Amino acid sequence: MDTKQLKIMTLDEAVKRIEDGMVVGIGTGSTIELLVPEIAKLVNDKGYQLIGVCTSERTEIQAKKLNIPIVSVNEVEHIDIAIDGADEIDPQLNLIKGGGAALFREKVIDEMAERFIVLADETKLVDYLGQTFKLPVEVDCFNWYQVLKRIETHIDGTVTRRAVQGQPLITDNGNYILDVHLISQTDPYALHEFLIHLTGVLETGYFLNLATEAIVGTQEGVKVMVR
Ligand code: A5P
Repeated sequence: MDTKQLKIMTLDEAVKRIEDGMVVGIGTGSTIELLVPEIAKLVNDKGYQLIGVCTSERTEIQAKKLNIPIVSVNEVEHIDIAIDGADEIDPQLNLIKGGGAALFREKVIDEMAERFIVLADETKLVDYLGQTFKLPVEVDCFNWYQVLKRIETHIDGTVTRRAVQGQPLITDNGNYILDVHLISQTDPYALHEFLIHLTGVLETGYFLNLATEAIVGTQEGVKVMVR
């Protein structure tokens, strides 16, 4: 099975966790893009009264097209469940996210949610964070280069500004993304603590102690991991 098929395998389990009347945080990425039509079926075919809060403009456009009622994060008092993808998942269900550059809004919504469920294919499972994926960090455009240099002097690794077709990528919040390539195994809690206090850093792609469950599509079937 290819990775798309493995992602599709997780959808039924994810949908089972959504109940009528819930406020649902809807993540970003290719896995969630597959989930959004399934959420839409709950609304349009089963008559569920759901309210969605999206983690990116991209997801919001897709959800609205499919008739899912969407409100902004400042219009809800709570979020019952958030469902999102991940770039890396370690054995403690700590994550790296932000491959789709939506890490700030994802963190806002995923950490507000009573339950935060991660959907992924098995290629996202790692022994430690940073093993296969660069850590995304969202930074202000004003001093991005100074922040990049500060990070490079602190870590064992390199930092690049993310670009798309030769142009710097701009996030939904009008910022840049720095991708931190860690060469050696690094304590995510300590590195997050260092990064988050740099002037110009909005948020890091470390999602630590946040996910309550991961639903992972594997060649042997769906694996549910609980923290
Ligand atoms: C978006 O910024 C990311 O955090 C995604 O959730 C993550 O990159 C997973 O994406 P895929 O579902 O496309 O693998």
